Amino acid sequence: MEVKVFSNTDELNKYCEQMFIDIMTNNDAPTLGLATGSSPVGVYQELIKANQEGIIDFSNTTTFNLDEYCGIDRNHEQSYWTFMHQNLFNHVNINENNINLPEASGDLDQACSEYNNKLNNANIDIQILGIGSNGHIAFNEPGTSFESTVHKVELDEKTRQDNARFFKSIDEVPTHAITMGLSNIMQAKKIVLIATGENKADAIKGMIEGEKTTSLPASILQDHPDVTILLDEEAASKLSK
Ligand code: GLP
Repeated sequence: MEVKVFSNTDELNKYCEQMFIDIMTNNDAPTLGLATGSSPVGVYQELIKANQEGIIDFSNTTTFNLDEYCGIDRNHEQSYWTFMHQNLFNHVNINENNINLPEASGDLDQACSEYNNKLNNANIDIQILGIGSNGHIAFNEPGTSFESTVHKVELDEKTRQDNARFFKSIDEVPTHAITMGLSNIMQAKKIVLIATGENKADAIKGMIEGEKTTSLPASILQDHPDVTILLDEEAASKLSK
């Protein structure tokens, strides 16, 4: 794992943006793995600017998102579908047909297997990740098998509390989601994980310096050959070096 600590989040976002630019300018039809949450938002803003300035083109870009809540409609203001359109897709020249998120309504078993098949046929060039304060990546909560593929998950109480800030009350936070599994995430050619703030410091220490364990799902990244971890000083504050 390559770990980089930034004193300034603008620099962190620009560093990550450059990783995307390198891939998008060297590839005629790039495939991006995208994430929701607050961690990637600054990078998306930089990518929007780069697209508007003509530095990158999304017309041949395909995207796959990590996860989606169950029990709320795609058009709900807090669905990940809406999040991605508001924070990226509506502002760049992407073809709507090239956007992929799990379908989290109807027959969920079928939806999981369809998304898994799509992922098996995709080659994600770069996957951006955040991390939950409990060490989850996507919605792979502690205890998830390292071999997991796309599946339905019951969200941890801690995750629901963390995400309650986006809803009017905790009662409105969905209890379930569909998520890429850990083995899907590990298929990406390159992975970049962003974490900022003190509430991520324990998870970051465990992921980088702890043992590989399903109690801390992000620790699986220790086995990936090309992972970059971008941190601010608070998220890095518990690292021993
Ligand atoms: C959610 C998402 C994760 C994300 C995590 C952290 O639970 N499913 O993909 O990494 O939140 O979010 P944030 O970046 O807002 O701290």
